[in-house]
Amino acid sequence: MSAGLHAPWPVLLGLWLLLCVSSGAQGGKVLVVPLDGSSWLSMRQAVQALHARGHQAVVLVPDVSMHLKGEEFFTMKHYEVSYTQDEFDRFFQKYFHATFERQPLPMKFLKGVEKTKQSSLIYLKTCRDLVFNKDLIRYLNSSSFDVVLTDPLWPCGALLAKYLSIPAVFFLRSIPFELDSEGTQSPIPSSYIPRTLTALTDHMTFLERVKNMLFPLAMNYVCHVCFSPFASLASDLLQREVSLREIFGYGSIWLFRGDFVMDYPRPIMPNMFFIGGINCLNRKPLSQVCIGCFIQALAR
Ligand SMILES: *[C@@H]1O[C@H](CO)[C@@H](O)[C@H](O)[C@H]1NC(C)=O
Repeated sequence: MSAGLHAPWPVLLGLWLLLCVSSGAQGGKVLVVPLDGSSWLSMRQAVQALHARGHQAVVLVPDVSMHLKGEEFFTMKHYEVSYTQDEFDRFFQKYFHATFERQPLPMKFLKGVEKTKQSSLIYLKTCRDLVFNKDLIRYLNSSSFDVVLTDPLWPCGALLAKYLSIPAVFFLRSIPFELDSEGTQSPIPSSYIPRTLTALTDHMTFLERVKNMLFPLAMNYVCHVCFSPFASLASDLLQREVSLREIFGYGSIWLFRGDFVMDYPRPIMPNMFFIGGINCLNRKPLSQVCIGCFIQALAR
């Protein structure tokens, strides 16, 4: 309360600097490479906020998509893809159907790997159609974007940013196979940080720690199956050997739509930020929930 009285000069100087910066600042140009699906629903809000602050956003949209629709707060740039809306819809229907099938665990794991492989193939096609589209790349290269905003879950936007030498901001909920730790080079000690999908907590017995250490070996195989076609696409594009770590390491800033309230704490790097609250901006009132009925239904 008394800060303004005791230290008027630093405060005034601060305000003056702020005015100088904000009056001189101009809107930036943001290239948005969204990931179709729920990720876009969050990113859309971020793009809207950027627009409200005077920045200009161009969103790259494949001709065939699920949720990517035009809005007044960004410019859409379409690109052709080598599959039809019908093929795309049929693929995702099958995918979602298989997700809810009841099966023993080993079958579920194998099917899961197969499904992930299939879905990465469709993303791979989209990415190939994007980065080898000469006209589009020429337009993007000449448009002098300041930054690429993208969800690195499927790292095509990251690859494009690297190809065009534009800094990238990653915007994500989470990423499998601890690729974020790899990309940012944050330590991930097996004794303390439970790996995704192990259902372990940050308090582990000795045997659980061993499991936590061995689990990534199996996951490395799945990771290889999912991402090795992408790594070869990246190598084709950049015309040299490119590793996944290099692509994920290209992010200048990582914005995680999470929080340590929901996730176990882990070491982070100074370019990693947690913005989990932004999904709560558009909250709607809860409908009447009967907690008693809910608990009874669970117990049944
Ligand atoms: C972008 O344009 C610059 C300057 O004309 C050129 O040197 C560079 O190779 C282009 N990059 C791509 C990816 O086309």
